[in-house]
Amino acid sequence: MKIFVTRIIPESGINMLREKGYEVIINPEDKVLTKEELIASLKDQNYDALFCLLTDKIDGEVMDSFGPQLKIIANMATGFDNINIEEAKKRGIIITNTPEVLTNAVAEHTFALMLAIARRVVEADKFSRALKFKNWGPLLFLGNDISGKTLGIIGLGRIGSRVAHHAVKGFEMNVVYYDIKRNEEFEKEYSAVYATLEDLLRQSDFVSIHTPLIDSTRHLINAENLKLMKPSAYLINTSRGPVIDEAALAYALKNKIIKGAALDVFEFEPSITPELLELDNVVLTPHIASATEETRAKMSALVSANIIEALEGRTPPNLVK
Ligand code: GLV
Repeated sequence: MKIFVTRIIPESGINMLREKGYEVIINPEDKVLTKEELIASLKDQNYDALFCLLTDKIDGEVMDSFGPQLKIIANMATGFDNINIEEAKKRGIIITNTPEVLTNAVAEHTFALMLAIARRVVEADKFSRALKFKNWGPLLFLGNDISGKTLGIIGLGRIGSRVAHHAVKGFEMNVVYYDIKRNEEFEKEYSAVYATLEDLLRQSDFVSIHTPLIDSTRHLINAENLKLMKPSAYLINTSRGPVIDEAALAYALKNKIIKGAALDVFEFEPSITPELLELDNVVLTPHIASATEETRAKMSALVSANIIEALEGRTPPNLVK
């Protein structure tokens, strides 16, 4: 069996494939391949599986560059909006993702962002490095508490639920949530309140987004509903950039329609709307919510577990429906 890996990744997964005796070809350059480069790497190589990342756009044309022996495209991410699922179905190609193993890491990063923006950690760090800390001050870098505040969770999947758990059990926050499905068991366990998107935005002190990127969630947060948020509220996004209209958010932050935002993902990733770079009331991280040594090793191993199951004729554990 022959596998192409689109980028240098944690060894855990590579070792599993090699132990099976598979031939593993890794893109030697630590950079995202353009569509043309990807197609050129795949053509006439008879790969049985593709080990890919969220930065690889896999459309029908890329799928056709493999040849008919291709069985599986295994994404090292929980989101799979980079892969055209319909085109894969038409061709009978199995698609898998890596849910669960990254739930904790992403939930923890959500809190890293929430605390960073509410407690002005990045601003204060810059200030200290610039040797501006001359005196302790009773009004120096006043931020906001998160304990006792209301957290609005948009999307109550595994990650949204884990964020709720930390919020309620760790920080004694109140949780409201919006999802297409209501979860009464969750409501009981966390004294959480199910709300419409509009009510959630009106009530929350912090809003955290945990939806997949699908047609109905693109620009779910736009100029109109940013205005529903409290002027004291903060918006956190660790899901996918295009869920927020980034130009509208930059406008809202600049004009104090909301108080702050902390973003790990961007609408035109890796580009960031230039206005955001100028603002102090936003914290920016480069799509690293799952980036811990432990989690990335587990993700890499899970991709390979999916590939091995598919190539050995069994149903992989993380089949995307
Ligand atoms: C990261 O963004 C992922 O979807 O795993």
